Amino acid sequence: MSPINKVIINKETTISPIWIMRQAGRYLPEFREIRKENTDFIKLCLNQDLSSVITLQPLKRFELDAAIIFSDILMLPYGLGQKVEFERNFGPKLGELNINEIIKTDEIDFVEKIYNVYKAIKKVSSDPILNNKNTIGFVGAPWTLLVYMINQQSPKKKLKENFFKDNFLINRILLIIEKFLKIHIKQQIESGANIIQIFDSWAGLLDEKDLPNYIYTPTLNLVNYVKSLNVPVICFPRDIKNYKEFCDIVKPDVISIDYNVNPKNIIKNIKIPVQGGLDPKILLTDKETLKKETIKYLEIFKDHPYIFNLGHGVLPETNPEMVKCLVQTVKEYK
Ligand code: CP3
Repeated sequence: MSPINKVIINKETTISPIWIMRQAGRYLPEFREIRKENTDFIKLCLNQDLSSVITLQPLKRFELDAAIIFSDILMLPYGLGQKVEFERNFGPKLGELNINEIIKTDEIDFVEKIYNVYKAIKKVSSDPILNNKNTIGFVGAPWTLLVYMINQQSPKKKLKENFFKDNFLINRILLIIEKFLKIHIKQQIESGANIIQIFDSWAGLLDEKDLPNYIYTPTLNLVNYVKSLNVPVICFPRDIKNYKEFCDIVKPDVISIDYNVNPKNIIKNIKIPVQGGLDPKILLTDKETLKKETIKYLEIFKDHPYIFNLGHGVLPETNPEMVKCLVQTVKEYK
């Protein structure tokens, strides 16, 4: 059994496997080399040869326990026919959302449009470097995708004015997102993904009263769907105020925590396996600080099933030597 499965399924506490959000990305010179020649990010994700190479780049350097497929949560709106572009130093830019166009998309159109993502998963998951390691497939949570599709760009700290204006439209879009997320999840699993992570990067934007409608209900539906396919599911509701309530209602197999939460409160209140937490900015300091902060998390979670990860994606300005030091510290911890 893979180390990550031992933690998730057997609830082992004697090991802390490690993978890193955004482990395949701009902090690696070998990624930047490929990216330089491939200016269209979506096209790069849909180039199965290059996206498989990129997915495996961090595993060639570091003793990581999983590969996360090089793709993006915004492949979903792209597959539905909404325009998605990535602008340098700006982030994603989406075209106007046209519900009348989107409802014309059927399952076959959608799968065809992003089929190469699944081919890349097939390729990666059968690579010998992943022997006894996991291949992580992922999706954006319905709420976070809704935010991008309506807001047309990262909301930073603010949603478009009148975001909630047309409630009927919002609920229709949520249902469409959910339907196609299930298709996307199933295809990833059939291609070899053996864990699914649901990224809810903008969960923290909502008021408590809106959590049931926009987060709990749609995420619970997805979690139940992944479970019905016999694959573990990790949820990352970034910046949510009440992780315990989220776990009690949504019941993921693993909860991934952000760096704003106090891990000591998590350990007190949450019984399911935990992932992540360490602030990615710690990787921008020095090795001594990094080791100290890493060991802090390992100590807190030493009697709890725990998968080491960061509290958000690794920052582009990170020195790969610091990632190496992090992985070594986790591997050497007894
Ligand atoms: O290594 C991995 O984690 C796998 C690949 C992956 C990417 N995006 C590649 C990527 C994953 C899991 C994602 C998820 C994703 N994408 C999220 C959820 C996680 C999070 O960060 O909160 C979100 C919100 C997105 C949307 C997105 N994609 C944004 C906001 C950006 C621009 C920000 C940035 O870092 O530049 C992207 C682009 C993106 N996705 C890059 C990568 C490697 C950078 C592309 C580049 O310019 O080279």
